[in-house]
Amino acid sequence: MPGGTSLSPEPDRRLQTRAVHPPSPPPQPGEPLALRLDPSTTFSFSDAGAFARASAEKVGAGYTYSRWANPTVDAFEAAVADLEGAAEAEAFSSGMAAIAAIFLSMCSSGDHFVAARQVYGGTHELMESRLPRYGISARIFDVSDFAGIAQALEGARLLFCETIGNPRVQVADLDKLGALAAEAGVPLVVDNTFASPVLCRPLEHGASAVVHSATKFLGGHHDLLGGIVCADGAFVRELQELGRDFGATLSPFNAWLAVRGLATVGLRVDRSCSSALAVARSLKSHAGVAAVHYPALEGDPGKNLAEKLLGGMGGGVLGLEVAGGRERAARFQEALRLVTPAASLGGHHSLLVHAASITHTQLSPEELESAGISEGFCRLSVGLEDPADIASDLICALDSSG
Ligand SMILES: Cc1ncc(COP(=O)(O)O)c(C=O)c1O
Repeated sequence: MPGGTSLSPEPDRRLQTRAVHPPSPPPQPGEPLALRLDPSTTFSFSDAGAFARASAEKVGAGYTYSRWANPTVDAFEAAVADLEGAAEAEAFSSGMAAIAAIFLSMCSSGDHFVAARQVYGGTHELMESRLPRYGISARIFDVSDFAGIAQALEGARLLFCETIGNPRVQVADLDKLGALAAEAGVPLVVDNTFASPVLCRPLEHGASAVVHSATKFLGGHHDLLGGIVCADGAFVRELQELGRDFGATLSPFNAWLAVRGLATVGLRVDRSCSSALAVARSLKSHAGVAAVHYPALEGDPGKNLAEKLLGGMGGGVLGLEVAGGRERAARFQEALRLVTPAASLGGHHSLLVHAASITHTQLSPEELESAGISEGFCRLSVGLEDPADIASDLICALDSSG
C-alpha cells in the first residue's frame, strides 16, 4: 500500500496505548539526501545478547543511550574528523566543554600545562580561576616566546594555543610550537576555531589534537552551541569517558544543524576572508582608527605566518582599535546600523564586540595590555553581507562617533 500505513495488528489496544505505540509506515525504496535527525535518547534491541554487548562496550557495538553515542552526533564527528585529517573526533555541548574536557582528561591534581596568552577570555577564566581549584596550574606565555615555552614544557602535561588568537588575531607558529612540544614529549593541542579546517589543519603542523567551538565557523549561523575535539583513537577514548561521565554531550539537533552548516563552511570562510581583507583595507587609514589587526593585511606582523599556515588568508575576524579609547568605542558601537553589536563570531551576520567590556572582562588592565588589547579594541567578525555595505556601515559609525 504505497504511501499508506501498515496498521498495527493489535486492535484491542486502547487509544492511549496506540498513541504511545503508533503504527509505522511500511518501508519504501529511496534514501533521504539530508542527514537523518535522530533525537532518540534510547535505542531498542530485539536480541538480548546484542543489547548486553552494546551496553557493555558502549561504543561501536550499537547505540544504546545518546549520552554514549548517537547516530546524528556520530555523523558530525566523522565529518569534522575528516576535514581535520584526524582518525576520530568527540563532540561536546560547547567549545568550553570540549576545552575543559581536554584539560581534565590530561591533567590531575599537581600537574601543570603550558598555554599561550593569546586565547579566548573564557579559556583564560578556566585556566586561571577554575582549574587551580582542582590543583591544575597553567603557565602562560606569549605565543611567540619560544624560549619561555620550551623551558616551561619540562614536566608539563600539554601545550595549548589558538591557531589565530582571540581577539588580537595573532597567528601561532604551529610548526615551531609542534617541534618544541615534540622535543619535550608533550602533546600540542590547538584551538582551531578562528581558522577552521578550511584555512589550517593543525595536525599537519605537529599538533596531537585540535579543538573547535563549533558554535562559530563550523555551524556558521548563530543557532547552535557545540564543541568538538579531533585526535587519534587513544586521545579521543579518554575524552569520551570524561564527556559521558560529566554529561557534556552534544545534542543531536545541534549536531544536525552543525552538519548542515559544514556543507557550506568552505564557501563561507572564503567569503568572510575576502570581505575581511577588503574591510581591513578600507578602515586602515581612517582617522578614527588607531590600528587594524588582520594577518592577511599588508604590513601586519602575522603576514608571513598567514602565508605559511593559512594559505595567505587571514580568517573572518579582524581587530579594530578605535582611536579615543573606551568612550569612543562605545559611541562607535551604538552608531552601527548593519554590523550587529553581539558576542560570538564566525556566522553569517557581521558582529562586533568591544573586548575590554564584553569578551575579555576576566583580564586585569595589566593582562589586557600584555595581550595587546587596548581600551578601544573591538573584535569584528565579518559575515556574509556585501563587503561594501559592511565597510560603509563601519565608516559611517566611525565618522559619527568622532
Ligand atoms: C577561540 C574560541 N574557543 C572557544 C570558545 C568557546 O566556545 P563556546 O562558546 O562554544 O563554548 C570561543 C568562544 O568565543 C572561542 O572564541
